[in-house]
Amino acid sequence: MILVTGGAGFIGGNFVQDWIAATGEPVVNLDKLTYAGNLETLALLADDARHIFVHGDICDRALVDSLFAAHKPRAVVHFAAESHVDRSIHGPGEFVRTNVEGTFTLLEAARAYWNGLDAEAKAGFRFHHISTDEVYGSLGPHDPPFSETNNYEPNSPYSASKAASDHLVRAWFHTYGLPVLTTNCSNNYGPYHFPEKLIPLMIVNALAGKPLPIYGDGQQIRDWLYVKDHCSAIRTVLTRGTPGETYNVGGWNEKPNLEIVHTVCALLDELKPDPAGSYVRLITYVTDRPGHDRRYAIDARKLERELGWRPAETFETGIRKTVQWYLDNQTWVRNVQSGAYRDWVAKNYAERERAQ
Ligand code: NAD
Ligand code: DAU
Repeated sequence: MILVTGGAGFIGGNFVQDWIAATGEPVVNLDKLTYAGNLETLALLADDARHIFVHGDICDRALVDSLFAAHKPRAVVHFAAESHVDRSIHGPGEFVRTNVEGTFTLLEAARAYWNGLDAEAKAGFRFHHISTDEVYGSLGPHDPPFSETNNYEPNSPYSASKAASDHLVRAWFHTYGLPVLTTNCSNNYGPYHFPEKLIPLMIVNALAGKPLPIYGDGQQIRDWLYVKDHCSAIRTVLTRGTPGETYNVGGWNEKPNLEIVHTVCALLDELKPDPAGSYVRLITYVTDRPGHDRRYAIDARKLERELGWRPAETFETGIRKTVQWYLDNQTWVRNVQSGAYRDWVAKNYAERERAQ
C-alpha cells in the first residue's frame, strides 16, 4: 500500500480516486482537513476498504511514525501543503509550518522507517514529493519554458516555502540516500478544485451573478493542466522515475488569465445561459496581487522522452469537462462555501479596489 498526504484536497483527492481505480492498490490518506480539505471529495470511496482515511497533521511526528509502523507503505506521495498564493501573502506562517516543517517531519519519519527495511524493500521504496513550477520564478515574454535545470527564484511566500521543501527532499537523497522523486507541475484545473483559485472562482461567481475579479491587466500567463493528467504523470513517475531526479509536468497550454475567463464565460453562456446576458458583463478589474509572477511555462519534454508521458486532454476538452462538472455538482460547491470560505472572500477581495 501507499501513504498519501493531503489526499482530501484538490489534486490529492483526484489522485486517490485515480490511483485506486487504476491500480487497485490500497491507500492510507493522512490529511489535516484544513479549509482546503474536504471528505466529500472522497465520498465515492466511503465504503471502499482500499481507502483508509486518517485525520491528522504531517507535523505530528508520533502520528506519522505510527502510520509507517502500522501500514508499512512501499511509497509516500506527498501532496499536503498550504497551496494558495494570496493566502500566503496574508499569512505566511502556516506555509512555513506545513510546507517546510511538515515536509521535514515526513522526510525524517520516512528515513527512520526506510532504514529499518530489508534490502529489497529499501531498494523499492519511493518518497514522491509533489511540487510546483512556481519555484522557478517568473518568465519574460520570450524566455524558453522552465526546464528541470532552471535556477530556483521563488517570489511569493508560497513558492519560497515550496522551494525550501524541494531542497530538503533533494538533500535527503544526496546525504542519506532516501529514494526520492520530485515533480514540478504547472497550474491544475478540474473537478473538486476549491473555489478560491482562478477557474473555479470564476465559475462559482458567474453562476451567482457576482463580479469576476481580474488582478491587474489580466495578461499574466499560466500553463494549464487537467488534474487527471497530473495524476497519470505522478503514477508514471512513481512507477518508472529514477530516484533523485526531478520531472517537470505541464500541459503545453500557455494562456493569459483574461482568455481563461472569457473561455469560462463562453462555456457557461452555452451550457447555462443567463437571461440577464453574457457572463462577460461580470468581468471586473481589481488591484493586482503583490509580487505577481507574470508568466509560467513548462518544458515537459524530459518526462515525455524518458518515461513516455503526455497529457490526454487538450485545454478545450478539459475546460469543457470542468465547467460541466461544476454545473453537475452544485451540492459539493455549496458545501465547501462555508463561513470560513465567505470570510476569506471578504478579506481578499474587499481590500482590492476596483481598477476601473
Ligand atoms: P489543496 O490546498 O487543495 O489541498 C491541500 C490538502 O493538504 C488539503 O486537503 C489540506 O487539508 C491538507 N493539509 C494542509 N496542511 C496539512 C497538514 N499540516 N497536515 C496534513 N494535511 C494538510 O492543494 P492542491 O491544489 O491539491 O495541491 C496539492 C499539492 O500540489 C501541493 O503540494 C501544491 O503545492 C502542489 N501543486 C499544486 C498545483 C495546483 O495547481 N493546485 C500545481 C502544482 C503543484
Ligand atoms: O503554477 C502552479 C501553482 O498554480 C500551484 O503551485 C498553486 O498551488 C496554485 O494555487 C496555482 O497558483 P496561481 O497563483 O497561479 O493560481 P491562482 O488560481 O490563484 O491564480 C491564477 C492566476 O489568476 C494568477 O495569475 C492570479 C490570477 N487571479 C487569481 C484569482 C484567485 C485573478 O486574476 N483573480 C482571482 O480572483
